[in-house]
Formats: sequence, structure tokens, C-alpha cells
Amino acid sequence: MCGIIGVTCLPSSRNQKVAEIITNGLRSLEYRGYDSVGIAMIDASERRIIIKKSDGMLEQVAKRYDFPNTPGFTGIGHTRWATHGAPTQINAHPQVDCKQEIAVVHNGIVKNFLELKRELEAKGHIFKSETDTEVIAHMVEELSKNSDTFTAFKKTVSMLEGSYALALVSVKEPDKIFFARRESPLIIGISEGINLIASDIPAMLDHTNAFIPLSDGEIGWISPSHVHLESLSGEVVDLKKRIIYVDWKSDMVRKGGYPHFMIKEIHEQPQVLKNTYEGLMSDDILDRAADLLMRGEKLFVTAAGTSYHASLLLKLFFEKLTGKIVYPFIASEFRTVEHLADRGDIIMVVSQSGETIDTMKAMRAFRARGATAVAITNVMGSTIGREADFTIPMRAGPEIGVAATKTFLTQALVASLLSIKFSSKVGKMGKDEERGALAILGEAGRIAGESIAMTEGAAKGMAERIHTTKSLYFLGRGLGVPLAYEAALKLKEISYIHAEAYPAGESKHGPIALVERDFPVFFIVSSDSSDEIASNVAEMNARGALTVALAPEKFKEKLGAKVLFRVPEVDPMLEPYALTPPFQLLAYYTAVRRGYNPDRPRNLAKTVTVE
Ligand code: AGP
Ligand code: GLU
Repeated sequence: MCGIIGVTCLPSSRNQKVAEIITNGLRSLEYRGYDSVGIAMIDASERRIIIKKSDGMLEQVAKRYDFPNTPGFTGIGHTRWATHGAPTQINAHPQVDCKQEIAVVHNGIVKNFLELKRELEAKGHIFKSETDTEVIAHMVEELSKNSDTFTAFKKTVSMLEGSYALALVSVKEPDKIFFARRESPLIIGISEGINLIASDIPAMLDHTNAFIPLSDGEIGWISPSHVHLESLSGEVVDLKKRIIYVDWKSDMVRKGGYPHFMIKEIHEQPQVLKNTYEGLMSDDILDRAADLLMRGEKLFVTAAGTSYHASLLLKLFFEKLTGKIVYPFIASEFRTVEHLADRGDIIMVVSQSGETIDTMKAMRAFRARGATAVAITNVMGSTIGREADFTIPMRAGPEIGVAATKTFLTQALVASLLSIKFSSKVGKMGKDEERGALAILGEAGRIAGESIAMTEGAAKGMAERIHTTKSLYFLGRGLGVPLAYEAALKLKEISYIHAEAYPAGESKHGPIALVERDFPVFFIVSSDSSDEIASNVAEMNARGALTVALAPEKFKEKLGAKVLFRVPEVDPMLEPYALTPPFQLLAYYTAVRRGYNPDRPRNLAKTVTVE
């Protein structure tokens, strides 16, 4: 899940050094992988490539090697999440050919790299790294002996098996950056006198709002004043039809005074939920989506991670409001269920990035069997956003923190609104009831804000109390179950405490064996289950657990938990927006209390674009 960026600029076009533009772009791409980092700049006057790279985080490496002051007007950069070869200096990207006249950065996996490497070694190429990526530089070097760089690049790419987003430079054509993509995201940014290419839009927002998201199989090159793009079959693509304009501002990507993106994005939720609601209610997109769903025989929903937890909420909302069964499955397990898909079925696909490879492959497999894909995504120009038959925008704005927060609640809101529209279309809900329900959901942002205000202090206090614990549970019933799964993932992925989630009733069938004195057990209490969950609290109290209930004040006596995280008392449809912020805040403050950077959790990346 690396991040790649390339910039080529007319010398007179910017007063900012190209290497500095690349370094800033890498800073915003770090969430995609951060075990090592590097840049390559073409020094056209000397016909040489300057390579600076190392294992370690961008700030330290860029300072040590003075990335921003590297000369040159064309260059590429990479922030790595290693798949082949440990995170070392030599395995860091850019990777080069024998003569360091070609440099390449890569996001993805070249599955047949060993075979290609042996072939090239037999021709005398000397490899330095353990990466799969290095074969690309040597193959272009080999094929460039008898052809121009782009022809050699195209031939090389045609030999690759696996996934890639590539940016390659060569001293032979010093103002060009050659690119290709398959499965890993890659977007071109275009502006006056400068063109860019990167793994995502925020990395380029300081320089343009005009972008060309690339599709699988597309290949080409950019120079400061030209973009050449060819389709998989070799036709030149008409760029005018492909340009999208994005109204994100680059300050949305910055931290805005917060210590981390994650806490900024938790606090953005009231505004973001308002934007999502107003955006979706301002046109007929949900009505059109509901019409599509109505025609579906079987309804499937698939996603990964946090988005899968949002999918479980969607299942609950749909089945409660429409009576229609929704079949959820984890995207990476699509091969166990794809045979169930038929023409006329619907596959709903939830993905904030729109680039998660598991989710993308699940969608493609179901579409290949004739199912219709309805996507819910935060990036309309993403692969999933473009390949789905119908796409609903989440409008959460860029989410930079690796841990999903605001995008989880916007996914929940889209799911709620869609289930109401669907319920009305199938006659389970009258027009007045529909209007009433939609009006209630218009309060989602305000409730999230109230919940943040009510629980942030308690979350800090509880973080102090649990930050040394090794293991804990989140339990819920009904609506509380998907929320418990999400709470456990949040705490695990940024504080590294082993948190597990179960349906509260299930805790008696084994998990309770782990509970001993002061073992923390958090209960996420939705109004549809407060009575039953009270007995689970009692069972945990009887074993000396530290029982903590996320619930409105009115349930305090009934539940008998040792600690109450008091949340706003709201209509059941608004409970996700009352119950979610406290566990997001708990995860954040626990990670910080344990001395970790919540924005850069170890071993993780924001978007999983490798299988
Ligand atoms: C959640 O905090 C994680 N970042 C991860 O589980 C994420 O939700 C998952 O990779 C799915 O990403 P997507 O929504 O972009 O498809
Ligand atoms: N396979 C390449 C490497 O290991 C890129 C990894 C990635 O995209 O995460 O360097």
C-alpha cells in the first residue's frame, strides 16, 4: 500500500523546488505506508539521476538527506509499505537499473518478478535489492537498447503479472514521467506548466484541482505541458472527457491545529455528517439507488475492516425497515460466496477509499456473474467508484488518519437514509413516516457533537485507567454488536491493546473464561437491548470485571455497571451517532497515553491495495 508521486515542471513555472513539492506530497501520502522513503530527481544538465532514500520516517530521512533542495525539474517519490524485501535502505524505492539512468517507484506486487529477474541476470544485469520492483528498471534498461523509452516501458508493463501503480523516469527523456496502473490507484494532476501523478488526490491539492483518475491497464507519460494516455488496447484516450474537478481544499488535508489527523477527523464528524445529509437530500440519488435495489433479487453487501462494520449496520437497518434479507460477507472471502450471485442480484460495496483490493475484486467477481454493483464510497474518482454500476458519495472529505472515524459514521448515515428510502419504496413506510424518519436523521451531526462534548473527558480518564491493560472486551446486543466490533478494531489498530468484540449474550459461551478482577469489559448499550444486556453486566460484575457502559443516564441504575460513559439519550435511529464517538475518543486517547502516533499505526496503511 505504498504511496507514489511524480512531478514534472517547466523551470519557470513554479518558485517552489520540484523536490520540495515531491517531499510535501510524500508527507500527505505517508498514511499509505511509512517504513521507508525516497526520491529520484533528474539532473538534466549532468544527464544523471540523483537518488536519496532510506528506511525510516519521512521527516527524519528528508532532513538527513535534504530532500527539498535536491536539484531538478522532474522527479518521483515513494513512501513504502514493504511486501518483498525488508524495510532497508537498499530495498527502499526508487529502484534503479544497472547504470542508475532509470528510476522507478511502485505500489503493488509483481507476482512473476523472480522469473523476470532470472532472465535479466542471465543477460548480465546486476540486482542490488530484494524487491520485486527492481525488475522493472532493469527490464526497461534492457529493452531500451533497441527502442525508445516509452516503447520499452510498454513492453515491460505487458510482461508484468500482478498489481501496480508505476512512475518511472529516465535520463534519456529528462522531462517525462512514464506511468501505468493495474489495481493500485494512480491519478494524474494537471495544471499550467506542471503535471503531477500520485496515489491519491490530497498529495497534489496544493497545485491543482483538476485530475484524471486512471483505469486498470492504462499507460502513458506526462511532461510539464503534455499528458499522453493510452488505453489497455493501445488507443490514445481523449483526456477532455476524463478530467474531474475536486472541490477539496488543501487545508482540509492539514491538521488544522489538532495534534493528529485522527482527533481532527473525530471532531469534524458533526460538520461532515451535516454535509453528507444535506448533499444526499439535495438530489434524487437515494431514490434512484432505492429503485435499483428494489429490482434486486438477492441483496449482498461486502467490505473490509471498518467499512464491513458499517455494512453490518446497513444489514440491520435494511432488514428492520424493509424486511429484505441482506447477505453480508467479508470482501477477502468473496470466493466462498461468489457462486451464489446471479444476474438480477445486487452487490452493495462499501469502501471509503474505493481502492481496497479485496473489495474491488469481490465487486468484479459479482459483476462478472451479472450482479449489479451499488457502491458507497468517499472517493468518487476511485476504482470502485468508477467501476460500480451506481455510486453513492459519502462526502466525508479526505480522511488521512489510518483509523477510520468520520467515514464510518458517514457510511452509517448513508445506510440509514438508503434503508428509509427503500422502506418507503417497498411500501413498508408511508410518506409521512418517511419524512419524519429523514428529519430525525438530519440531527445525526448535532448528536455526534453532543456525544463528543459529553464523553471526551471521560475518554481521557478511562484511557489513563486502561492504558496498561493487555486485553479487554467490547460487548453489545442488536445495534451494539457492529459498534462493538468497530470499537475493538479502533482500540486494537492504534493502541495495540488486544481488544475483542462479541455479542454480549455470546460472552457466556466461552469468552467470559478470560474475565478476572479488573478485566475491562465495555458494554455498548442500544435501547433495543438494555434489559438483556443488564444481565451480562451482572455476570461480569460477579467476576470482578471493570464494567463500563456506554449508555444514556436513564439506563445507569438498570445496568449496574461500575462506570457509565454517559451518552445523549436519542431516538433509536440516532444511536450510532451517540454511541460511536466515545469509543473513537477512547481509542485515540489510549494510543496517545501509550506513546503511539494514532495517525501512523505500526504495520498498517490507510488503504490496502495489495492482497
Ligand atoms: C479501519 O480503521 C482501517 N483503516 C481499515 O480496516 C479500513 O476500514 C479497511 O481497510 C477498509 O478500507 P476502505 O473503507 O477504504 O475500503
Ligand atoms: N512490492 C513493492 C515493495 O515491496 C511495493 C510494496 C507496496 O506497494 O506496498 O517494495
